Amino acid sequence: VHTEKKAERVLSFRHLLDARQLLPADMDALFDLAAFFQRAHAEGRRAHDEARGRILAALFYEPSTRTRFSFEAAMYRLGGQVIGTESGDGSSLRKGETPEDTGIVLSGYADVVAIRHPEEGSAARLARHASVPVVNAGDGGNEHPTQTLTDLYHLLKEKGTLQGLTVGFYGDLRYSRTAFPLIRHLAGFGCEIVLIAPEGLDVPDERLASLDPSACVRRAASLGQEIARLDALYVTRLQKERFDDPRAYERLQGSYAVTPTSLEKAKADMIVMHPLPRTSEIPVAIDVLPAASYFRQAQRGLFVRMALLALLLKA
Ligand code: NCD
Repeated sequence: VHTEKKAERVLSFRHLLDARQLLPADMDALFDLAAFFQRAHAEGRRAHDEARGRILAALFYEPSTRTRFSFEAAMYRLGGQVIGTESGDGSSLRKGETPEDTGIVLSGYADVVAIRHPEEGSAARLARHASVPVVNAGDGGNEHPTQTLTDLYHLLKEKGTLQGLTVGFYGDLRYSRTAFPLIRHLAGFGCEIVLIAPEGLDVPDERLASLDPSACVRRAASLGQEIARLDALYVTRLQKERFDDPRAYERLQGSYAVTPTSLEKAKADMIVMHPLPRTSEIPVAIDVLPAASYFRQAQRGLFVRMALLALLLKA
């Protein structure tokens, strides 16, 4: 019975490379289907068939736990199979093959490709000549659209709406590839965005300037002054791998953290989000607080990726 009604609607894109491609109708379709898979999962119906006989090529050239495993688990739970590399070491991009060529070749083997690579634009290049859908699972500091989808879906489920929320962003907002695309979407939903970044870790000015002039985004000096107003606080890790100068990283290491005391004045239903992995910016003492939502957020990434793969493979 549960195989009905699913995957009815088709997405507006063929490759998902940039969160800007996600139109309201795409999000509605994806979130409905993700919610369906989440309900089924909770009821013990965990095996589906939207990807039966299909293969995902998962190419990961940067470390990943959640993204890679949730893509792989999503494909298996849809009845499909996965081929791939964990470190990229065994693949020809390391020998100097262009992403364009890799895209052509993988299109002959697999039905959908997910790629994470340190270079901005790498997923778009791979997609250029690919005849199967390509999903960007993180291209350098640029975009990570399935994380943006996960974060939006999580917020929607936790808050009941994406409209008019006040959301704080705290931490490394300069190098994070998850913070800015989420800011852009939430600003588009009329949310008030408060940026709280330590010195040197602000959202780059040119990215802020690219926002719609109606966006309500402001910078704030400290978490303490803002916490009481927030519906959600999105925290990011210091993106060590994006620093050219290791000394700059070391100077900033440990320069910010959420503490139980810093949350004392928060609204009772304020949630703390984090794309994970965390380092020192969220101590484990926070995990037991009702505000801690990041592990639920990570699990929702599975259902969102199931929904995305199901709809991409259907098109
Ligand atoms: C994020 C990423 O890879 O950008 N992780 C993830 O996909 N869950 C955030 C991070 O690595 O800090």
